[in-house]
Amino acid sequence: MGEDRPRGPASRAELSGEEDPVAGTARGRLGRRLYGRSAGKPLSARREALLSDLLPRLTVAVHPPGALDPASLFDGRPVRVVLEIGFGAGEHLVAQATSHPETGYVGVEPFLDGVAKVLVGIDAAGLTNIWLRRGDARDLLDELAPGVIDRVFILFPDPWPKARHHKRRLIQPAFLDQLARVLAPEAEVRFATDWADYANEALLVFTRHARFRWRARSAMDWRAPPSDHVPTRYQQKGLGDCSPVYYDFDFLG
Ligand SMILES: C[S@@+](CC[C@H](N)C(=O)[O-])C[C@H]1O[C@@H](n2cnc3c(N)ncnc32)[C@H](O)[C@@H]1O
Repeated sequence: MGEDRPRGPASRAELSGEEDPVAGTARGRLGRRLYGRSAGKPLSARREALLSDLLPRLTVAVHPPGALDPASLFDGRPVRVVLEIGFGAGEHLVAQATSHPETGYVGVEPFLDGVAKVLVGIDAAGLTNIWLRRGDARDLLDELAPGVIDRVFILFPDPWPKARHHKRRLIQPAFLDQLARVLAPEAEVRFATDWADYANEALLVFTRHARFRWRARSAMDWRAPPSDHVPTRYQQKGLGDCSPVYYDFDFLG
């Protein structure tokens, strides 16, 4: 991974609130937040230390629109770049990055506690193939150059179960347009949820989009966890109203 990591926010004060230059971009694009709290309970000393020491070294600096080539973050080697959107506490991201040390991972998550937890995982595993952005995935997508992402994970995104909140769901046609712009030819996208009406809505939005094709051939393809899936503690709580579904989509270029 590159030695000259850009410096990110340095202090807890900067990291926890409106002054956070990274989280501060989260409302930017559409002026609408898709997530709730971006910070929670006080953090342990270890997490505080990782936030001030490690996060700045792993933070993807804010780039002008279309200027970010994530492969350049990984020592300029030709790597596959995988993006995990809303990684939560980061168990899936850390597990994937551990299993595929030759692949570059970028994780984006606005919630400070989640970012602190993924730093614990990255530090414990000694991973050098993950970069992070604390903030809104839509802002990061705008910064990415076209065609630079090989795979995207969107796992158990916030369900917003009340009908009046459905407009806050991440999977919307405009979001898929954003995603399509940054995907490489033959890229793949995995979406999972355990909320039945989000599963139905997301499937419609993806399959109505001209540039995505659902890969499933049989019910087992979306009902059974894919062989490379790593359940998180959040998933294991089973907070939804149905069994998890896993939709893999091919990007049609
Ligand atoms: C329900 S949690 C699931 C976390 C994780 N994917 C898992 O399966 O354990 C959804 C996560 O998405 C994050 N999130 C919500 N809106 C987001 C956005 N616009 N960009 C990036 N992450 C977002 C939330 O902060 C939250 O951590």
